[in-house]
Amino acid sequence: MENGANVDIRADIPLLEEVIYLDAASTTPTPKPVVEAMCDYFYKYNSNTGRGAYRMAVKATKEFEGARSRISKFIGCSPTEVIFTKNTTEAINLVANGLDFKKGDSIIVPNIEHHSNFIPWLNLKKKGVKLKVIKADEYGIVDPADVESAVDANTKLITTTHVSNAIGSVQPVNDIGKIADENDVLYLIDAAQSAGHMKLDVKETYADFVSFPGHKGLLGPIGTGFLYCSNESVDKLEPMNYGGGTVLDVSEGEFSLEDVPARFEGGTQNIAGFIGLGVAVDYIKRIGMDKIENHSKKLTAQLFQEINDIENTIVYGSPENIYGIVAFNIDGVNAHDVAKILDELKNICVRSGHHCAIPAIRHIGAFELGGTVRASVHYYNTKEEIEIFGETLREISKFFGD
Ligand code: ALA
Repeated sequence: MENGANVDIRADIPLLEEVIYLDAASTTPTPKPVVEAMCDYFYKYNSNTGRGAYRMAVKATKEFEGARSRISKFIGCSPTEVIFTKNTTEAINLVANGLDFKKGDSIIVPNIEHHSNFIPWLNLKKKGVKLKVIKADEYGIVDPADVESAVDANTKLITTTHVSNAIGSVQPVNDIGKIADENDVLYLIDAAQSAGHMKLDVKETYADFVSFPGHKGLLGPIGTGFLYCSNESVDKLEPMNYGGGTVLDVSEGEFSLEDVPARFEGGTQNIAGFIGLGVAVDYIKRIGMDKIENHSKKLTAQLFQEINDIENTIVYGSPENIYGIVAFNIDGVNAHDVAKILDELKNICVRSGHHCAIPAIRHIGAFELGGTVRASVHYYNTKEEIEIFGETLREISKFFGD
């Protein structure tokens, strides 16, 4: 059977009958099989994992760890390299706070990052860590040569987003990873906007760490995310939350840590959420990454074209290099007003504002405009929806232009 042929994603996401949902970069709606898997847990075997010896608890553990195993296969690593977190932000903070940064260390980071891959590093300035901020080009793309020039003996970590959440620009993550590898520097990729949208084999990227959301491209539930932490780098990382489930032994004077990944997952986890995420990953696989990529590329190009064809719009990024996300403004019109009118006229959901990426918004010159309007797509969106979006935007632009 052809990939995707056994998935009716529109039927699996009922809210798509009500709205034109163009905000995948914020979060994606959850398909029925994922919701059903979570309901199954709640209705039939709601119990804690890694603790109880009774059969229901054993089943919960099996399903929870089964999800980890499916996720690890999907990104090309071993289950011990997948640490569950509540979101991408928590995954990045685990690295920023768990590595032993010292005064004088430096971190290389582009100026187009989401705040979640910027503030945790900026915050290390308190420890005397220096941030070397790399300026992306006018289209929001980082030149690996600039990263290479910034590396010196004090560089401890290089990080970059894979796809910018503000511009949609795709970064040369493997080339940057090669630089990190050649210089023996740690490397973190923020895959918040690429996971589930494009193929990503973590072992090909040279990354030590990759931060993932469960609730965006992977179509999993809100409240799930994870960190890929390579087996080679895991001993450099201290846990953020000590407590239940993280230790092998404790005496009154000391404790010994559990193996990975348990040592990083203190306390009861979002069990239903991760079981749902495991099913979501299977769902994505059933559609097929090739199919998702082809579809999203076409829709991104169509979106860019629709917006660019309207006279008084500014579109950011280069059409050859953006993926899944198109940011724009109507000249002289506040971004939030455009978003509200799109919603009120045709139930079109887009995000507007600074997108938690103020340096990126400054970089593209949209800060004074109050940010941008951002439309973002996934496999569930259709060509017809983008046409309606284009027509509606044309009407809005005409109204303000007259
Ligand atoms: N990181 C999400 C976004 O860019 C919330 O909208």
